[in-house]
Amino acid sequence: MKVFSGVQPSGILTIGNYLGAIRHFVRLQDSAECLFCIVDLHALTVPRDPEDLRRDTRTVANLYMACGLRPERSILFAQSHVHEHAELSWLMGCLARLGELRRMTQFKDKSHGAQEDVAGFGLFAYPVLMAADILLYKASHVPVGDDQRQHLELTRDLAQRFNARFGETFPVPEAMIAGVGARIMGLDDPTRKMSKSEPNPGHYISLLDPPEAIRDKVKRAVTDSGRDVRLDWEGKPAVSNLLEIFSLIADEPVPSLEARYGRQGYARFKRELGEALVAGLAPIQARFAELVADPSYTDRVLREGAERARVQAVPTLNEVKERMGLLGAR
Ligand code: TYM
Repeated sequence: MKVFSGVQPSGILTIGNYLGAIRHFVRLQDSAECLFCIVDLHALTVPRDPEDLRRDTRTVANLYMACGLRPERSILFAQSHVHEHAELSWLMGCLARLGELRRMTQFKDKSHGAQEDVAGFGLFAYPVLMAADILLYKASHVPVGDDQRQHLELTRDLAQRFNARFGETFPVPEAMIAGVGARIMGLDDPTRKMSKSEPNPGHYISLLDPPEAIRDKVKRAVTDSGRDVRLDWEGKPAVSNLLEIFSLIADEPVPSLEARYGRQGYARFKRELGEALVAGLAPIQARFAELVADPSYTDRVLREGAERARVQAVPTLNEVKERMGLLGAR
């Protein structure tokens, strides 16, 4: 089993990123060969301030480690440090079809229904680069949240298409999408996925929010009508989302939370959820503060991670070029 996944360095990371993805990375690193990437090239698909992007890339590296990824177990690296990603992306792009890229819901959402002639090409080509990320390492498993399902399908299609045209080369990677926590919803609107790019900070909880902000955001989170705390995604989507977050962060089954808070109204439930989040994020924040104090360590981890990643990336890229008919340079 070989695991690859990535996170965009787009400002903050939310508890959605943690509960839906990074938490699983941490678990997997003890049983599988793992590569976890900070996908800085993907971050360029929307306009970014250069200094912010550099800072955010280090922040995600530090958050990876603060959440429990260990550079001696997992390869942690920045996508742009391994230029083979961009090169394989071109090669895979020659297999991708306009129609299938146009159907990607993320492209439709992020281009905000803009006329296609003004939507960015990077945004359009985004899933091809993502496929290249995964295939470059011949990864067999890709832990992601539910929103990446469609991109993984495209990756599988491209792998199969390549294999059919040029001979068996890539394993067809499987998405690992958890049953619970793969789609954490916004605190201000339980019909929308929690997203770090939302302008309203009350929408998400950042992994680095101070305790007061966490308590306050949970207190102000929307709830449903009625006063009973129970899991019912149809009838009580807001409370169900909060229950799911509570269960995951406190590692306590939903039925036991329902039994404790069921008929007590929302106030105590929300207060104690706030405390559970503060307690759950405290060790991550403490470790993060240590890591931030020493940027040279972070840079070293990324440099060494990129070297180790390239050892795997180069042979795959050479194999692909050869199979596609490019003349070897050596
Ligand atoms: P990104 O940076 O948007 O999100 C990182 C991971 O967090 C998951 N996630 C969520 N899970 C549950 N609830 C939420 N509200 C929530 N929001 C985000 C995402 O599903 C993701 O797993 N395209 C990817 C990055 C990427 C990648 C890859 C991933 C690039 N190349 C190769 C896997 C393999 C992205 O934008 O993730």
